[in-house]
Amino acid sequence: MILVTGGAGFIGSNFILDWLAASSEGVVNLDKLTYAGNLASLATLARDPRHVFVRGDIGDAALVSTLLERHRPRAIVNFAAESHVDRSIRGPRAFIDTNVVGTLELLESARTWWQGLAGGERTGFRFLHVSTDEVYGSLAPADPAFSESTPFAPNSPYAASKAGSDHLVRAWHHTYGLPVLTTHCSNNYGPRQFPEKLIPLMIVNALAGRRLPVYGDGQNVRDWLYVGDHCSALRAVLARGRVGETYAIGGGAEMRNLDLVRALCRILDARRPGRDHAAQIEFVADRPGHDRRYAIDATKIERELGWKPAETFETGLARTVDWYLANGDWIDGVQSDEYRRWIDLHYA
Ligand code: NAD
Ligand code: TYD
Repeated sequence: MILVTGGAGFIGSNFILDWLAASSEGVVNLDKLTYAGNLASLATLARDPRHVFVRGDIGDAALVSTLLERHRPRAIVNFAAESHVDRSIRGPRAFIDTNVVGTLELLESARTWWQGLAGGERTGFRFLHVSTDEVYGSLAPADPAFSESTPFAPNSPYAASKAGSDHLVRAWHHTYGLPVLTTHCSNNYGPRQFPEKLIPLMIVNALAGRRLPVYGDGQNVRDWLYVGDHCSALRAVLARGRVGETYAIGGGAEMRNLDLVRALCRILDARRPGRDHAAQIEFVADRPGHDRRYAIDATKIERELGWKPAETFETGLARTVDWYLANGDWIDGVQSDEYRRWIDLHYA
């Protein structure tokens, strides 16, 4: 068994689906089901005994300890987090509560459990912490890409809270010897991403005939990785990563936001002939403190663990659009009252 936290979210649900497709090893999925958690993403596992879902908070030490004792997982993969930069700007507290304090509690539960183990169970145990490239701050156009040795310089409350959790994870290894691994991945995209993030928001708005809100001048650059490739990188790190090390993960696919939205519109135009989706693009007020550019040097994970992405940005983006076109029920299901309130507030 492995214990996955945040497995009802975007990356966590893709990770669990891929994991169970490739392995007979079961998954305990601990998720608080915030607005971003969605069991519909795991509907195909509803009757699969290898998936045990538990609704709860990573900060609930009593619950986590019970789960560890009951299921004796060989690893914890920590996806649980508040993850949206714009929400962190409007309300940073939840980001500190879950990403910093929640991670602290999870580390303490893991440490107590791990210290009580013996033999192979103890030496084989792993705590894999899933972090982001945003902890490294923002790059100028000619700067070299982020790597594992780039100093932390987080700029948003989200990035600062993730950096805080990363420091805790590092310290729990250095001080207590907890066998941790940390990954720093670039922007993910793919099926089951909540439509508050750029790519699914643009697809959902485009299909509904709503405007496509591009922040500022649309020239901010992100590196994009298909979610399935992030999941294969995490499996490689869990299987073969060196304890205490960090791994930068990226798609080698830098793209300006405006170019990306236009590429999405071209795919949609081809799927729904007769419409000009790019006519829905509108420039809106910029995000405060908006990081200009992210880029990842993934040489270490490629060299040490033999990982490489399977999708190109073109194939991944087309797959993603096709998934949203084929999953109208999922899209309807996530557009709750809470979602509408967020969209109305944020894009007013
Ligand atoms: P998401 O917002 O889609 O999902 C987060 C999940 O965590 C949700 O299911 C939510 O219910 C759950 N959760 C939140 N607080 C919790 C708590 N206190 N206890 C238990 N569960 C809780 O996020 P995502 O995009 O899937 O990201 C997953 C992880 O990967 C995050 O740690 C994020 O920082 C990191 N990451 C994301 C990206 C990206 O592009 N999305 C890139 C790099 C790293
Ligand atoms: P986002 O998906 O929120 O990811 P992150 O901020 O973590 O990189 O945003 C990706 C980029 O798209 C970022 O530069 C902000 C921009 N963006 C828009 O232009 N319009 C939008 O409505 C959103 C949500 C994001």
